[in-house]
Amino acid sequence: MARSKHKSVEIAHREFQSPEAGRSSEQAQRDESLRISIDDSARTPTVFYFATAVFWLLIGTLFGVATALKFTLPDWLGDIPALTFGRIRPAHLNTVMYGWASLAGAGMIVWLTARLCRVPLQWGWLHYIAALLWNIGVFVGTVAILAGYNQGMEWLEFPKFAGGLIAIAFLLFAASIVQTFRVRQVEHLYVSLWYILASLLWFPILYVVANLDLYQGVVQAAMNWWFGHNALAVWFTPIGLAGAYYFIPKVIGRPIYSYYLGLIGFWAFALFYNWNGMHHLVGGPIPTWLVTVSIVASVMMVVPVMAVAVNHHLTTVNHFRMLKYSPTLRFVVFGSMSYTAVSFQGSLESIRSFQEVAHFTHYTIGHAHLGVYGFLSMILFGAMYYIMPRLAKWEWPYPKLIKAHFWTTAIGIAIYVVTMSIGGWIQGLQMNDPSIPFMDVVNTTKPWLWGRTFGGTLMMIGHFIFAYQFFLIIKRAGPRRFAPALFREPAPIEAPAAAEGKRR
Ligand code: HEM
Repeated sequence: MARSKHKSVEIAHREFQSPEAGRSSEQAQRDESLRISIDDSARTPTVFYFATAVFWLLIGTLFGVATALKFTLPDWLGDIPALTFGRIRPAHLNTVMYGWASLAGAGMIVWLTARLCRVPLQWGWLHYIAALLWNIGVFVGTVAILAGYNQGMEWLEFPKFAGGLIAIAFLLFAASIVQTFRVRQVEHLYVSLWYILASLLWFPILYVVANLDLYQGVVQAAMNWWFGHNALAVWFTPIGLAGAYYFIPKVIGRPIYSYYLGLIGFWAFALFYNWNGMHHLVGGPIPTWLVTVSIVASVMMVVPVMAVAVNHHLTTVNHFRMLKYSPTLRFVVFGSMSYTAVSFQGSLESIRSFQEVAHFTHYTIGHAHLGVYGFLSMILFGAMYYIMPRLAKWEWPYPKLIKAHFWTTAIGIAIYVVTMSIGGWIQGLQMNDPSIPFMDVVNTTKPWLWGRTFGGTLMMIGHFIFAYQFFLIIKRAGPRRFAPALFREPAPIEAPAAAEGKRR
C-alpha cells in the first residue's frame, strides 16, 4: 500500500516535471513560460478539433451499433430509406474516420507540433476556418449518404462537394503546421515530427488524385483500393505512430530506446506501405503481377512494424508497472500493442492461401477494427487524456470514469475482434464448401454477430462516459483536483498554483 502510494506520487510529479528538471532555475523558468505560451497559442484550435471529434465519435458509434444490429435484425428500421443498411454502414465509416479519427488526430498534431518545434503555433487562425470547413464537409457528406448520394467507392463515399471542402480544410490545416515547423527552435527533429510532416505531404496528394474523375472499370477498382489502404498508410497510421512515439517516452520519463530503429522503421514504412492496396483485389480482374507486388510489399511491412514494436517495447521495459497508474500510458501502450498485432495480421491476410478463407468474410471487419480502434482510437484517447488538462488548466475530475472508459472499450474491442475473427473464419471455411447451403452459413454466423453487437455496445458505453468527462473538463466543472488524475490512489493535494502553472 505504502509502495503504491509512493508510486502514484512519483508519477504525479513526473506529470508535472520535465525530464530536464535538474537544469538551472533560470532555464527552467524560460522553459516554463515557453510551454505556457505554446499551450496558449494551441488551446482554442486543439480544443475545437477535439470537441468536434468527440461529437462525431458519438454519432459514428450510434451508426456502428445500428449497423451491427441490422445483421441480426435485418427488418429493423428497414422501411426508412435513410436508415437502411446500405446507407448507415458508409455513414458509420465516414463519420468515425473523417469525423472522429481525423479531427482528433488534427488536434493532437496541432499541439504536438508546437511543443516539438518549441514555438507557439503559427497562423493559428487558419485552424478556425479549417475545422469549420472540415466539420461542414463531414456533415454535408453524411447527410448526402443518408439521402442516397454516394460515390459508390468504399472510403470515398462522400460526394465530391463534401470531399472538396475536406481537401481545402486539410490544406489550411497543413499550412499552419508547416509554418510552425519552418520557424522551429530545435535542431533535432523528433520521430513524431517525421511522421506528421510526411503525412501532410502524402495525404493531400492521395486524396486529390483519388477524387479526380479519371478512372473507369477495373482501373477504378484499383484506384479505389490504392486510396482505401493508403488512407490508413499516409494519414491514420502516421497519426497513431506520432502519438505513440511521443507519449510513451514522455510519460515514462526516458528517451526513446533507439533513434536508428526509428529511422529504419520510418523509411521502411515509407517504402513499403503505399504498395499494399492491391492485396484487396486478390482474385480480381487486374493484372496478377500487380497483386503479387502488393503481397510482397505487404509481407515486407514486417520490417517497419518490427522496428516500431522493438523500439516501443524496449522503451517501456522495466516500466510496465506504470500502466497501473497512468491513463495516458495505458491507452497508448494498448494502442501500440494493437499496432503490432494488426500489422502482422495484415501481412498474413495478404497471402493468397490465407485469403482463400478470410476474404469476403467478417474476419476482415475484425481486422479493420483492431487497426482503427484498437490501435488508432486508443492512442487518440490516451493523447486527449494527456493534452486536455494542460489546455483546460483543469484536471480530469473523475479518475474512476477514465478507468470505466478504459475497461469498457478495451474489453469491447477484444470481444469485437475475437468474435469477428472466429465467426469470420468459420464463415470462410463453410463458404468454400459447396455442399453447405448459403443460408446455413448465414445462420452459423449469427451468434458471432450478436457477440460483436455486445462488444460494440460496451464500446459505445465507454464513448458516452468519455464524452461526459470531456464535457466536464471543457466547462472546468466537477470536483476540482490539484494533481493529475491517476488510476490508483488519490493524488496528493497540491497548491492550486502548481496545477495551474507547472503542469508540463
Ligand atoms: C471509433 C470507433 C470505430 C471506428 C473507427 C470504426 C471503423 C470502421 C471501419 C473502418 C469500417 C469498415 C470496415 C471494412 O470495410 O473493412 C467499419 C465497419 C463497421 N463497423 Fe465500425 N468502427 C468503430 C466503432 C464501431 C462500433 C462501436 C460498432 C458496433 C458494433 C461498429 C460496427 C461496425 C459494423 C457493423 C461495420 C460494418 C461491417 C460489415 O459491413 O460487415 N463499429 N467500422
